[in-house]
Amino acid sequence: MDKSDNMKAATTHLHTQVPDVESPKALRQALGRFATGVTVVTAYEDDAHAAPLGITANSFASVSLDPPLVLWSPARASLRHAHFTAAHGFAIHILHEDQWDLAMRFNKNGKGFEGLDYDLNDEGVPILADCHARFECRTESLHEGGDHTIIIGRILRFSEGHGEPMLFAHGSFGRFVANS
Ligand SMILES: Cc1cc2nc3c(=O)[nH]c(=O)nc-3n(C[C@H](O)[C@H](O)[C@H](O)COP(=O)(O)O)c2cc1C
Repeated sequence: MDKSDNMKAATTHLHTQVPDVESPKALRQALGRFATGVTVVTAYEDDAHAAPLGITANSFASVSLDPPLVLWSPARASLRHAHFTAAHGFAIHILHEDQWDLAMRFNKNGKGFEGLDYDLNDEGVPILADCHARFECRTESLHEGGDHTIIIGRILRFSEGHGEPMLFAHGSFGRFVANS
């Protein structure tokens, strides 16, 4: 079998479907074929009872090098949506492959910042020391994105750790294995 036969074999297995808003399961499953990294996005609540906020998110993407911009998108349904969209700044922590506990901590019903060490950066954003890479951002603009809001941030500072990133695909966490 040469390369073109392989492509033919792959395409003959495609089943075309139209998105069903009543039942988004199939669409979510198809979108889950796109492997991503995993991040924890942090910010501070913008009110009198300010508390540090964090959320596990894989909607992170780089946008622009000049100016240095990134995006992520909180779901409107999230209890923390209002706080993240009001925050003047946020930090993206890209998780390394052994940080499954951190991903769970900031997922639904996780412990959040309870018992976790963190610092505040110059903009007052909570930052975690241990991660694969970190981008400290100032909120640049918000955009409507259906049931999510797209938040674009300007990178003020960034730092890199070591090792390999955590991956997420097919609804599961995994590890990166290079071909060579
Ligand atoms: C791997 C992974 C990626 C996620 N990505 C996002 C995301 O990009 N945006 C988002 O709003 N929620 C995302 N979530 C869900 C949130 O972490 C959280 O569980 C959800 O928003 C419920 O939070 P709430 O308590 O604020 O309602 C993700 C969860 C996991 C496990």
